[in-house]
Amino acid sequence: MSTERDDSWRTLRFQAADLFTPSSPVSTTELFAGRSREIEKLTEAVAERGRHAIQYGEPGVGKTSLAKLLQYFVPRGLKKVQYIRKAVVSTDTFTSIWSSVFQSIRFSAIRDGIAQEYTVSDLYPNNIAPSDVVRELSYFGETVIPIIVVDEFQQLRDAEAARLMSETVKAVSDEGLAATIIVVGVGDNVDELVRGHSSIVRCSEEVLMPRMTTREMQELLDVRVGQLGMKLEGDAKWKIIGLSKGLPSFAHALGRSSVYSAIDRRHMTLQESDVDIGIKSTIESSQHTLKSTYETATNSNQARARFRQLITACALAKSDPSGWFTPKDVEEPFSGIVGERRTIEHFNGNLKEFASDRRGNILHVKGSERNFRFRFSEPAMQPFVLMKGVAENLIDEKAMNVLSSKEQGELFPT
Ligand SMILES: Nc1ncnc2c1ncn2[C@@H]1O[C@H](COP(=O)(O)OP(=O)(O)OP(=O)(O)O)[C@@H](O)[C@H]1O
Ligand SMILES: [Mg+2]
Repeated sequence: MSTERDDSWRTLRFQAADLFTPSSPVSTTELFAGRSREIEKLTEAVAERGRHAIQYGEPGVGKTSLAKLLQYFVPRGLKKVQYIRKAVVSTDTFTSIWSSVFQSIRFSAIRDGIAQEYTVSDLYPNNIAPSDVVRELSYFGETVIPIIVVDEFQQLRDAEAARLMSETVKAVSDEGLAATIIVVGVGDNVDELVRGHSSIVRCSEEVLMPRMTTREMQELLDVRVGQLGMKLEGDAKWKIIGLSKGLPSFAHALGRSSVYSAIDRRHMTLQESDVDIGIKSTIESSQHTLKSTYETATNSNQARARFRQLITACALAKSDPSGWFTPKDVEEPFSGIVGERRTIEHFNGNLKEFASDRRGNILHVKGSERNFRFRFSEPAMQPFVLMKGVAENLIDEKAMNVLSSKEQGELFPT
């Protein structure tokens, strides 16, 4: 029989599902954590005429969330922001991109004596050229701040479209129009995203979206747990942040499943044991591709190969800001996991194998022999591997400490 009490726990669970959103962008500024530097850079680009922006970074770091909320962070004064976002798909052309943008721009005109509503796309049934875009963007009144976001730019296959986009941004900039065009997408650097079209780069602010800092991750969790009226113990928080590796969607997923675990215990405080339970359910509900690549990469009938231990060590290895690590970086965590000193010669061959079809290309490799660098081909794989490591007890207390960076040490004093 359901009691009033059960109902309130159910309500709490429902609220948690609303606050933790591992698979969709953040939709309100209250739930958006950190990113003040990136917000500042983008706002400056919006404020300055002739200035645009390219926002780039690894998959899943929070690019779309910021691009969507930017409209609320811009100091508007008495003006109104007109925000238009187009997510590029692989079949898009220059015309289809702008046709979609133009669909969001309305105007009214008198026809046969009756005022009618139109969209600018009605005016362009066929091709759209850069000069058309410049003209249409010049019609915004002085009281409007137009922001046009072209997201998922890495999806664009049409090379001509990329060239025309670059030309357009340059032309809009040269005309000194109030409109700001923000190109958003996955890439290690700007050139990779805009494919060497340098004219767009010259008039654009380059905004790298890095992984989230410990502080930002902490804010992400605190705000949500706080809204539920719950509490988060230090150890539990540290574990979620350490395992998420700066990728917000994992903090959401792990945060949510840990909250569920506390709710199942009828407890308002999340403990480390809730996170351990959360890890299991997060692994289970992870994308199928993560699970199957992990299996392909680690599956072996030679017990000595220790692929599971090795990939876990890779996930623990210190890396540069773009996620690249050297075989040397793997030595310490690998030795920690297997419990005896292991140097590069012991595992170099297996490491290279991770970057082959045979092991699902779980890693990417670059550089030449003696100077190889590796990284996870998909960033989300790194927290997944760590969670598997914790769930399968490959990572002991000592290895867990490796997860803690100096910054975390300061935040969670023991
Ligand atoms: N500042 C933030 N505060 C809290 N959660 C965030 C923040 N930024 C992103 N997230 C969360 O992180 C996840 C990924 O966000 P988002 O979709 O914006 O990233 P993305 O970089 O656009 O990803 P993709 O490369 O897949 O397009 C979502 O679950 C989102 O809710
Ligand atoms: Mg996105």
